[in-house]
Amino acid sequence: MDDLIKRAAKELSETKNAVALTGAGCSVESGIPPFRGKGGVWERIDPDYASIEKFMSDPADVWNVLIKEMKDLVDKSKPNECHKGLAKLEEMGILNTIITQNVDGLHQMAGNKDVIEFHGSFAWQRCMDCSEKCETGKVDMSEIPPRCKCGGIYRPEVIFFGEMIPPDALFRSKQLASQCDIMLVVGTSAVVHPAAMMPVIAKQKGAKVIEINMERTPLTDDHISDYLIAGKAGEVMKGIITELERLM
Ligand code: APR
Repeated sequence: MDDLIKRAAKELSETKNAVALTGAGCSVESGIPPFRGKGGVWERIDPDYASIEKFMSDPADVWNVLIKEMKDLVDKSKPNECHKGLAKLEEMGILNTIITQNVDGLHQMAGNKDVIEFHGSFAWQRCMDCSEKCETGKVDMSEIPPRCKCGGIYRPEVIFFGEMIPPDALFRSKQLASQCDIMLVVGTSAVVHPAAMMPVIAKQKGAKVIEINMERTPLTDDHISDYLIAGKAGEVMKGIITELERLM
């Protein structure tokens, strides 16, 4: 692992045009569980709860089973070494943009300024009737599902299964993927599309793809990633930053 950390730091030190694609694994060390795999949310909760059909048919159930728990976890969480390392990479002029599938806002909290929220943001709720937005922290939770002043039900500003990726986010992500020199793929199982296509686009256009994950993914097995640094995202990112600071 140490050799690969050194290799990644060296390659990153030679570019000003890296992009990161991040997933739930980035926030595990902040206390937010991943979706898939051991200890993942989908081990306990049917993934149907993340579908728009389920939310439309029984919003109270989805609020009770999934959204309330997410709110508690997100409220308590703070950026970890992975988020901080990615923020440092932006500050060093190496990383341009993070494309994140996470909705927890931790990249922004760590200091990253250019974050594409591919699956939306949990920071906001939107009224399904009048479309007025309310900060999640300010929503009155005494009634479930919580309601707007107009009586409409609030939904998080996230992308449920069965909904479209915001067109601007998709367009910009594809553009960045096709123009970057290095794509860092951190803590994603890379099975949810179209997010998982971004490293494929980057690879096709000649970028280096560096994966950081505890496990192999389809990107590792299909040789989309040039190499996998197998380890916890926070530890690996910390190692990369230490090495970069030595090099620069
Ligand atoms: N460090 C690095 N990687 C980790 C860590 C860690 N500490 N912990 C777990 N991982 C890895 C797992 O090995 C797995 O590959 O993070 C990945 C998490 O995968 P998923 O739970 O599938 O998360 P993600 O890829 O972000 O999911 C994509 O699926 O359910 C939807 O909308 C949801 O945005 C989400 C999308």
